[in-house]
Order: sequence, then C-alpha cells, then structure tokens
Amino acid sequence: MSKHEQIFVGLDIGTSKIACVVAEAGPDGRLDVIGIGTHPSRGLRKGVVVNIESTVESIRLAVEEAELMAGIEIKSVFTGIAGSHIRGYNSHGVVATKGGEVTSEDVDRVVDAARAMKIPADQKILHILPQEYIIDAQDGIREPIGMSGVRLEVKVHIVTGAVSSAQNIIKCCNRCGLDVADMVLEQVASSEAVLAQDEKDIGVALVDIGGGTSDIAVFLDGAIRHTAVIPIGGDHLTNDLVVGLRTSAREADHLKRKYGACMVSMVSPDEQIEIPSVGGRPPRPMPRQVMAQILEPRVEELYELVKAELTRSGYQELLAAGLVITGGSSLLEGMVELAEEIFDMPVRMGRPDGVGGLVDVVSSPMYATGVGLIRYGHNYRQTSSVAVGRGGPSVLGRMWGKVRQWFGDEG
Ligand SMILES: Nc1ncnc2c1ncn2[C@@H]1O[C@H](COP(=O)(O)OP(=O)(O)OP(=O)(O)O)[C@@H](O)[C@H]1O
Ligand SMILES: [Mg+2]
Repeated sequence: MSKHEQIFVGLDIGTSKIACVVAEAGPDGRLDVIGIGTHPSRGLRKGVVVNIESTVESIRLAVEEAELMAGIEIKSVFTGIAGSHIRGYNSHGVVATKGGEVTSEDVDRVVDAARAMKIPADQKILHILPQEYIIDAQDGIREPIGMSGVRLEVKVHIVTGAVSSAQNIIKCCNRCGLDVADMVLEQVASSEAVLAQDEKDIGVALVDIGGGTSDIAVFLDGAIRHTAVIPIGGDHLTNDLVVGLRTSAREADHLKRKYGACMVSMVSPDEQIEIPSVGGRPPRPMPRQVMAQILEPRVEELYELVKAELTRSGYQELLAAGLVITGGSSLLEGMVELAEEIFDMPVRMGRPDGVGGLVDVVSSPMYATGVGLIRYGHNYRQTSSVAVGRGGPSVLGRMWGKVRQWFGDEG
C-alpha cells in the first residue's frame, strides 16, 4: 500500500491525555493533518507508564478515533518518551579520517566514538544529537561530509532513558497492534513543532509544561545543548486547588481551565466565581483572585526550578530568543507574563506550526508533542543526512533496529 508510506502517525502518551495525530505527506513535502484522536490518560504518573492495562485502553480509544477520522488503519506510530528517568549528557568523539576527506562512514565512526561513555546498566541511549563537527582546527561545522581534513571531531548531546520505561511504552503500543517506528524524547518532538529555526540558531529554551512534568530543551547554534525534566506540571496546580478550594479534582481542573490565572495582579478583586462543593453541599461564591493566590506560588516555584536548571546548563545568558512555553499548562492565564517577570527574557507561547489540514484543532499547545512527532518522523525518516540539527533516526544509519534494542535479545 503505497499510500501508507506517505502517512505519519504521532502518538503522544501523556500524563493527562493520549493524543494520536495522523498526517499525510504530499509530494511537495507538506504535511496535512487528516485525523486526530484524544482520550484522557489514566495509566501514567509523571510522564511514566505505571499501569499497562489502563494505558492500553486509552491508547486504543485514541487511535480508533484517529483511524475513523482519517479513514485509514494505523499500523505504526512515532511515540514520545518522558519522565524523571531521562538523562542528558554532552560528549565528544575524535577519529582520523580514512582518505583525507570526510565520508559518511567517518561520520558514523566519530559519532560511535562519542557514544562510548559509561551509562548506568538500567539505561540505554535514546538519541545522539550532533551539535557541531570540528575538522582539524576548524570548529562550528554543520555538514562535514566532503570536507578535507585528517582529524574529525564531533560534539554531541546524548539522551538516555530507563530501559523498563521504554519497554513499557513499546509493550502498550504492541498490545494495541501498533509497531513503534521510533521513540522520541517529548521535548525534542515538541521543539520540532513550535520552535523556528532562527530561534534555535540564536539561542532558545523550550519548556513543555504538561500535566505531570515540565520538559526542558535548550538550543543554541541550531543544535540541542541541554535537556532536563522537572517533575511538576498542571496536575500539581489542580491538586493545590483541590486542597485550597475544597472541591473535587474534576471540578478543580475545570475551574482552573475556565477561571484560573497565575498572577494575582491580573485578576480584578471584584470578580466572583462559584465553587461547586463536595458531598452535596451547595456551591459557594468566591473571589476569583483566591484561585490566583493559590496558583501563583506554585507556578513561581516551577519557574524558579526551570531557571535553576537553565543556570546549571550554563546557557542562561546565551538565550537571545528567550523562552518558549508550550504544553497544555501554558494555556493558563498569566503564564507568559509571569515567566517574563521571573526570567527577565522574552517569552512566548509555542503553538504547533508547519502542518496543514485540521490545523484549527492541532494548533493548541497541548498538541505540541503529537504534531512534533509527525514532523520528526517526516523530517528524519528518509534523510540520510547527519548534519547538525538532524538528530533523527538516521544519525547512525541503522536506527531501524533502534526500538528493538530496548528488548535486547528478546526483540
Ligand atoms: N486552558 C487551560 N488552562 C490551564 N490549564 C490547562 C488548560 N488546558 C489544559 N490545561 C492543563 O494542561 C495539563 C495537560 O497538558 P498536556 O495535555 O500538555 O499534558 P500531557 O502531555 O498529557 O502530560 P505530560 O506531558 O506531563 O505527560 C493539565 O494539567 C490541564 O489541566
Ligand atoms: Mg506532554
């Protein structure tokens, strides 16, 4: 079925929702979203699968919905991976070129040399993302193949993840009859969908603030420099409201989306809202500012942790394009304004971009990862380039077997 070769499916297995995005690639390289399915996610905690059965059920329902809308059968998906088990390292490798001119084989060898680092036994490599090549003494090279030189060096960002977490994602997909074409770090996927190339060139930090976690990726000179995960997301905001407003989690989430704000100064002291109570008691009126008083310190705490992470990365001063926030929680009123105050940098909300078709639906920041996965799949599946910024499955030229590696000999 040649039609299916043009179909890319992103399956974002998030803590709050499972989103399945189906896109068709046209001959001119454009991607049109032709189907979307979403379902509340029940089997994850802080970005990690903790209940296979419930996750499988949610995936099945999201995928069925997307299949129905797109009118196709989904067999293979690009899926995301996230959680506190993810580690990012910077590493480098050096080799001598074989013929005085850099070949793709030399590039494979030097990337291989860079991956030769000690990784804990329960972790495996998810991505090797080249940052720059250095040929003899010339640094800052993005496309090394064909250049003259005898000494080839590469700087890379290596991302590793817990074997068990990756296996569980693959298991869930397999149980729904889906093959995993590739597993992509969620903030790497999101950055494909919401960041512009010039932002990545001059320096930018992406923060995908979801339900369970906030995932960070830092870019400079077109390449990824730092990745990190902070185990705080929108669910923590909801929980604070449950306690502070004495209402159910469902209601708290609903109220947060409808009336929530994370800056007290943005809400008029006169505005009143109604809080549904638990246990059959009548609803209570309350100033809307009370919600902001509960949410502001928690968002502040989250942003302070992000800031500390950026300082730790050493790139904080180099981010000329500032900060881009995405993920469902970036929709909370005041998120951009409070970030501008705390980070003292330009901040914008990142909405998925670069696709056609059902754009109205997928332009919510909640779909950053889902859309990013199809863009990632589309960009890197066929290319054989190993240029900087092309951190996709082709980097080592043998990534078809990558997903299988998580099961070692079993696969
Ligand atoms: N309009 C809104 N205002 C405030 N918060 C919102 C809004 N819409 C969604 N959210 C919050 O966004 C969160 C879900 O975001 P998202 O869908 O990006 O998470 P996820 O990808 O499922 O989770 P994760 O990436 O952490 O695994 C929830 O906490 C939800 O309450
Ligand atoms: Mg997410």
